[in-house]
Amino acid sequence: MFSILVIEDDDTLRLGITQVLKKLDFRVYEAPSPSKGLDLFKRYHHDLVITDYKMEPITGLEVLKYIKDTYPETEVIIITAYGTPEIMMEAERLGASEFIFKPFPMEELEVRVKKTLKLIDERKEHLRFKDEIKYLREELGGEQQKREMVGKSEIMAVIFQKIKKIASTDSSVLVYGESGTGKELVARAVHFTSKRKDKPFIKVSCGALAQGVLESELFGHEKGAFTGALSKKMGRFELAHTGTIFLDEIGEISPEVQVKLLRVLQEKEFERVGGEKTINVDVRIIEATNRNLKKEVENNNFREDLFYRLHIIPVELPALRDRKEDIPDLVDYMVKKLSIELTKPNLRIQPEIIDVLMNYKWPGNVRELENVLERAAVLCDNGVITIKDLPNLDENNVYTMNEELNKIDFNENVAKTEIGLIKKAMKITDNNKTEAAKLLGIKTSTLYYKIEKYQLFK
Ligand SMILES: Nc1ncnc2c1ncn2[C@@H]1O[C@H](COP(=O)(O)OP(=O)(O)OP(=O)(O)O)[C@@H](O)[C@H]1O
Ligand SMILES: [Mg+2]
Repeated sequence: MFSILVIEDDDTLRLGITQVLKKLDFRVYEAPSPSKGLDLFKRYHHDLVITDYKMEPITGLEVLKYIKDTYPETEVIIITAYGTPEIMMEAERLGASEFIFKPFPMEELEVRVKKTLKLIDERKEHLRFKDEIKYLREELGGEQQKREMVGKSEIMAVIFQKIKKIASTDSSVLVYGESGTGKELVARAVHFTSKRKDKPFIKVSCGALAQGVLESELFGHEKGAFTGALSKKMGRFELAHTGTIFLDEIGEISPEVQVKLLRVLQEKEFERVGGEKTINVDVRIIEATNRNLKKEVENNNFREDLFYRLHIIPVELPALRDRKEDIPDLVDYMVKKLSIELTKPNLRIQPEIIDVLMNYKWPGNVRELENVLERAAVLCDNGVITIKDLPNLDENNVYTMNEELNKIDFNENVAKTEIGLIKKAMKITDNNKTEAAKLLGIKTSTLYYKIEKYQLFK
């Protein structure tokens, strides 16, 4: 329900306005003077303020300025009998949404109020969409939601069993493992097999953000909490409400953020940065790290109490070199996937080179295998990956991604993300290209161009 504040020193008019608005089912507050009005506003942050222009000791314009300075989302309608063009221009400059001249029939007031509230509604809807799009973007940026986890080795069978058991609980899970072993995949598997699977899965890369930024990313901030905090912002914990939050690279977080995180784990509550209101959330927490957290605790880099809270269910992923028997299945799975992604229906791999792949140590684990195969799939002739398409993978050679591979990776990934976003936006908008473009924040012509470029919906 919208809340509306009416500031008007003429008692008869104020009463008339409030009666009309109450009949329309709005929550209505009234004040006979600007100072009383602003007192009320400071307390309730109404959606709409209707204020008289000529009042003592301050004018409606000053009321307008105060409101727009402190809470720009609130709309203001000014009513006046003295509407000179200068005053109107000033009111418009300060952000008034409507101007009504006295005397006016109540029907006019009703129309203007409804128009303004519709504007507020649309803006809220837009914000909700923006959040949604941001969330989708991250989802896709962090790869698809559900991805198969391949592996028949004993060690992986134990892990799959464990994921199943964990999924039915709400306990926090700490996933350990070298880079590229599939930590994120485990986090997603836990979420998407849990009862929270239809709720948000929100990923935060704790190591990629400066710690001050991380704090406001996680917990949100109030307007003016720090320089540059121009408006209120919801944090990832709020976005993840009823779902799961995945804190990647948890070993990187600063002592300040550790304290706040501990409180969320214990009390399920926190405050936004610069805010006083306590926010309660129901969020399942999954964390990942490639560091030895126990050692970090011993070295006083990580709080012991937090460590124990996080460590309730540890999952330790093996390095690929410790489960080489899974390599043939992984290769098979990845080649099939690449064949679809690269539209190379006949893509296959020469059987002899499986041995080469099995003998290599894979310091970058499954991700490195994936990268090597992707590069080979792009470069190979006639759809057959042979030894000449692989980098030099002898046992002692530590293969590192070269520039060429980076380039392929980048463009491919951008294209994949774009395609995914376009498809989602089209689905949400029921294939309305204009709406979809709006949702994505791009020009309709750009959307047409991209649909043509990627040959989508043909
Ligand atoms: N068992 C598996 N089956 C299929 N694909 C896998 C498996 N494990 C990992 N992958 C793939 O390997 C890549 C790396 O996995 P993921 O991002 O989960 O690793 P990570 O441990 O989070 O890595 P990092 O520490 O570098 O963030 C992903 O593309 C993922 O899909
Ligand atoms: Mg990861």
